[in-house]
Amino acid sequence: MGRIPPHNITDNHNHFAVCRHSNRFAGETQKKIEMNIIGTGRAHPSLTVTNDMLSTFLDTSDEWITTRTGIKQRQLISHEKLEDLAAEACNKALEDAGISATDLDFIICSNVVNEYITPSLSCIVQGMIGATCPCLDLNSACAGFIYALDIANSFFRSKSDINNILVVCAEEPTRMCDWQERSTCVLFGDGAGAAVLTRGEDFKNFSLSSLSNVDPLYQIRELEKTPFINKEEFGGPLVMNGQDVFKLAVNASLNDISRVVEGSGLTYDEVDYYLLHQANIRIIETIRRSLNQDKVKFPHNIENYGNTSSASLPILLDELNRNQTVNSGDTIVLSAFGAGFTAGACLLKWSKNGKS
Ligand code: ACO
Repeated sequence: MGRIPPHNITDNHNHFAVCRHSNRFAGETQKKIEMNIIGTGRAHPSLTVTNDMLSTFLDTSDEWITTRTGIKQRQLISHEKLEDLAAEACNKALEDAGISATDLDFIICSNVVNEYITPSLSCIVQGMIGATCPCLDLNSACAGFIYALDIANSFFRSKSDINNILVVCAEEPTRMCDWQERSTCVLFGDGAGAAVLTRGEDFKNFSLSSLSNVDPLYQIRELEKTPFINKEEFGGPLVMNGQDVFKLAVNASLNDISRVVEGSGLTYDEVDYYLLHQANIRIIETIRRSLNQDKVKFPHNIENYGNTSSASLPILLDELNRNQTVNSGDTIVLSAFGAGFTAGACLLKWSKNGKS
């Protein structure tokens, strides 16, 4: 756990007991969907850090990290800037989609932390890629890709002049960690993933769920002082109760997945691929076993990249698109969870052919 005690935690166990009841998640299933993915892209920082490299300065081991998390290595920001990775992912997604930045009508960027508090990362990226459309940032933690897709769908439904939307998830969670704290810093990696969306009928169902529960996962940052502040304030690195997050994640993800699969009138066997947030291979395995599905339906890359927060799903999707694992006609479920607690899933029929 991190150094700073949270100011609002009184009884962690009571909070979590409430969370285990899935009916306390304020979720909704939305059926009218008008959206396709036509391009994907990703970018990784250049520095590869293996578990063995971590064990040179942390009391940890490749064996512990591999068996508890599935992570073997991660790509970490060293000299790069996050906005450069975001722009690279966007440009690749645009190229894959066969459209240019000036064809975009909106950009949505999912991001938890970057060097700028303001302006938004989406505004910075808009200029870097040469787009001229409006843009916004959202912070739904690691579930950000699903939330961004859902917001994009709302734009398609409500604004007749919007035809192309770029969603980019760019994250550097390694900058939130205390790098002397072995229970958190070993889990994360940095990166960016993007998807270009257009009007269509591929997406069938969304489920979003949120539960206000700060305690299991948070980071507090200290704000600038003013002459008028007379309350105690402090900041510190990311604090996580790993076991609480684990249980919340499995519970919320199963809830969302069941909503989108059953809400689409499908059985779990009829889904070709379940792409889950890459946080821990044991979370993925627990969900897979609960759904009684084959391992091949749960592709993963956590072993190479660690947990890249909301970027993990578009990064995985781009890999599977480019290596032609997913192909036209496949039914895909995307599912993610994050701090908040936020969670979400969606179901789509993939209609584009992979490109290498
Ligand atoms: N290396 C070696 N030992 C370690 C390390 C490490 N890196 N980290 C913790 N340990 C030790 C602990 O100190 C503890 O030692 P002790 O028994 O002597 O006290 C022991 O290992 C067991 O610790 P636990 O926390 O009980 O280990 P657990 O099996 O729960 O695994 C983990 C921890 C991997 C964090 C797991 O709980 C988990 O993955 N939870 C989900 C976390 C997650 O998904 N986070 C994502 C957050 S962001 C997001 O995507 C939403």
